[in-house]
Amino acid sequence: MSGLTIVEATGIRKEFPNMTAPVLDDVSVHVESGEIIALMGPSGSGKSTLMNILGCLDGPTRGSYSLGGRDVSTLTPRERAWVRLHYIGFVFQSFHLIADHTVLENVTLPLYYAGLDRNEREARAVELIERVGLGHRLGHRPSQLSGGEKQRVAIARAVSGQPRLLLADEPTGALDTKTGNEVMELLLELHEARALTLIIVTHDPEVAEFCHRKVFLRDGKVISDGRRHAAHA
Ligand SMILES: Nc1ncnc2c1ncn2[C@@H]1O[C@H](COP(=O)(O)OP(=O)(O)OP(=O)(O)O)[C@@H](O)[C@H]1O
Ligand SMILES: [Mg+2]
Repeated sequence: MSGLTIVEATGIRKEFPNMTAPVLDDVSVHVESGEIIALMGPSGSGKSTLMNILGCLDGPTRGSYSLGGRDVSTLTPRERAWVRLHYIGFVFQSFHLIADHTVLENVTLPLYYAGLDRNEREARAVELIERVGLGHRLGHRPSQLSGGEKQRVAIARAVSGQPRLLLADEPTGALDTKTGNEVMELLLELHEARALTLIIVTHDPEVAEFCHRKVFLRDGKVISDGRRHAAHA
């Protein structure tokens, strides 16, 4: 662990129109570069909402968020898209692969948006697809893959832009235990090899055991964050 702060979110509040109570209320999250965090809590406690803010998919109603030392809480949607492209990878429970694209096309797509030329895109994508053990599936479409294979493609895509922060929202939620463990092992290998910081939403205590610490949300508040010092010390 480098000891550098990557995520510094303070006093995050998130309100949605027509909702009486805020979905996130004074949430603070501090993550050092290289940490692996399990984000846990009951259904509806605000985990995905927080991930959307940490991933710059959405902005907070109130509060500050600095990512890698840069204030990202007040960016326009366009600026947030730039930060996502260059800084953040996402993995979702339901994979979110493009159905009519091949494995290779799914993994090269973000590299196209990042402006790499065709040869660079394909070379990097093939290397990653081989890295996740699917070099023999380059031309397959998602419907021709198992759940574990789909998630490995999604992970290859998520890290193709060489993000520093990888956000995974229940990455093993749709997989059986054995396949889920394989996906977790892949995430841990990538963490090791690429100095990634990982934040993983999970309901699964086994998955959480792989993580360095657990942040628990309840009713939109952090009730414990596993740090040695209290969040507001
Ligand atoms: N766009 C939205 N508009 C209105 N309410 C929303 C919106 N997104 C989420 N919510 C509400 O915010 C609360 C938290 O939702 P969120 O998806 O963050 O929970 P979660 O902890 O991820 O739950 P789960 O474990 O079921 O995925 C829920 O009550 C949900 O209905
Ligand atoms: Mg959720």
